[in-house]
Amino acid sequence: MGTPAQKRLIRKLNLERFLSQIKPHPSPNLRLEQYTTPESVAASMLYLAAYTYGDIIDKRVLDLGCGTGRLALGCAFLGAESVVGVDIDKLAIKLAAENSSLLGFKTKVDWIAGDVTAVTGKFDTVLQNPPFGVQKRGADRLFLEKALQVGGKVYSLHNHPFDDGAFVNRLKHSVLLQVAPSPFIARFVEKCGGIIEAVYAMPLSIPRMFDFHTKTKSDVIIDLYIIRKVDKAS
Ligand SMILES: C[S@@+](CC[C@H](N)C(=O)[O-])C[C@H]1O[C@@H](n2cnc3c(N)ncnc32)[C@H](O)[C@@H]1O
Repeated sequence: MGTPAQKRLIRKLNLERFLSQIKPHPSPNLRLEQYTTPESVAASMLYLAAYTYGDIIDKRVLDLGCGTGRLALGCAFLGAESVVGVDIDKLAIKLAAENSSLLGFKTKVDWIAGDVTAVTGKFDTVLQNPPFGVQKRGADRLFLEKALQVGGKVYSLHNHPFDDGAFVNRLKHSVLLQVAPSPFIARFVEKCGGIIEAVYAMPLSIPRMFDFHTKTKSDVIIDLYIIRKVDKAS
């Protein structure tokens, strides 16, 4: 029967429930920073993109570094016209494809195993939770640069620049808080021909995944950048 694409407004809780069916990578690779976006963060990102900014429904969407497909399949669920997910890890792509055929969508969904730098084409919207460049310096910049080459709008998650415990506590009581962009990212986005429309900070809980994680979970802040590519003709 398959999962119908949702063209009418759906409840955020239902979106979170849907996203929780998309299982994380079973053997994440630290070098590739294979952290799965928690469903609460993915749902906030997709909800803003779909219903506040109108960038998912009937749009051609690209998920860069799609992992097992959480963001890409969330877009298909919400009624994107077409979705492409790209990841360098063949196992992640295999699992994403399995998830997508298990759920079944009317939206055309394609999966590509390859490096972010090799992506070509034109998309209305790019979503990404890129590696933050902790393991490989500059990895986040490669993703931003590519997203702005191929996309008209970009939704990109980045490290919050300050480690502020009080802010984390404040955020726990609200889901999203609009904040100023990091000057470094702002400069880079401008260089790549983009304009930052908004930055939303949100809480993110990282479960213990790798040997160097000493706590069962860490609460941090993540920033969602909403970026528009500037049309050179305008
Ligand atoms: C933080 S994870 C996000 C996974 C998924 N998008 C999600 O939201 O759960 C970053 C993803 O980027 C992929 N990745 C890392 N380097 C890459 C590269 N050079 N080209 C393509 N994908 C890459 C990793 O394999 C990983 O799946």
